Amino acid sequence: MSDNRLMMEPSKEFVFNYKGFYFAVNTTPEHVASLENFEIKDSDIFIATYPKSGTVWTQNILSLIIHEGHRNGTEDMETMDRIPWVEYNIKNIDFANLPLPRVFATHLPYYLTPRDLRNKKGRVIYVTRNPKDVLVSYYHFSKFMVTLEKIPDFNLFMERFLAGKVLASAWFDHVSGWYNHAKDFNILFLTYEEMKKDLRSAVLKICNFIGKKLSEEEIESVVRQATFENMQKDPRANYENMPDDIAIKGKGKFLRKGNNQLHFVSTNLLSQLP
Ligand code: A3P
Repeated sequence: MSDNRLMMEPSKEFVFNYKGFYFAVNTTPEHVASLENFEIKDSDIFIATYPKSGTVWTQNILSLIIHEGHRNGTEDMETMDRIPWVEYNIKNIDFANLPLPRVFATHLPYYLTPRDLRNKKGRVIYVTRNPKDVLVSYYHFSKFMVTLEKIPDFNLFMERFLAGKVLASAWFDHVSGWYNHAKDFNILFLTYEEMKKDLRSAVLKICNFIGKKLSEEEIESVVRQATFENMQKDPRANYENMPDDIAIKGKGKFLRKGNNQLHFVSTNLLSQLP
């Protein structure tokens, strides 16, 4: 087998496959399996994404919407502590006792989410981004994440990405799975491209979906703090204090370029919704 053929299979040092989906090794199959019975509260909000689709952006927006202290700059709390990853609980946060409303981030495919969530309990905000930008973002991201396999050649990374041989498996399966099962969830779909085009409208859609009323001034403050330029300057929003065993300091940034090239995802996929 050629070197490239060998490189097509993801290294077990970095991922494991559970029910057809690749997870990073900083969780376990047992933890992922336990999520089926994870008890959902009515006020819970899940931000679901394929990697590199605007998760941190949406986490930051929700944190700004929900927490007045974040909005007025009086609270200094890491995004990951405020909105933890449900399948990667690397800080052993006590999920049951998080303040309400609990907000979680996840890359789970629709079929591995908690049963309650699939029965319309709680809310899901699913953010998607055009796959070309996801691919480029993912390639650069892999270079500075300790937890991701280093694939130095972009073409090889692209082959892996297209074959779904990366953490979170295939982009298309993830996105089409969530869109095709929209009926099972209480769900709001957003695209990275629409957030980029009109952030204020996206913020209003989120407020409306979660039933949060903000004043004009508060909305302006959320929008101002959630722009690419302002988030890039904010170490908390930019995940600059990630533990050394997760990210290599100085090798890259969560907020890299923040550009979007195409709008076809929003138009094509949203038109498939029931
Ligand atoms: P780039 O690598 O293209 O810059 P995720 O949080 O899902 O890992 O996605 C990361 C991508 O979202 C990065 O894309 C990052 O720059 C972009 N992003 C984060 N915050 C953003 C913002 N406020 N505006 C635009 N893009 C943002």
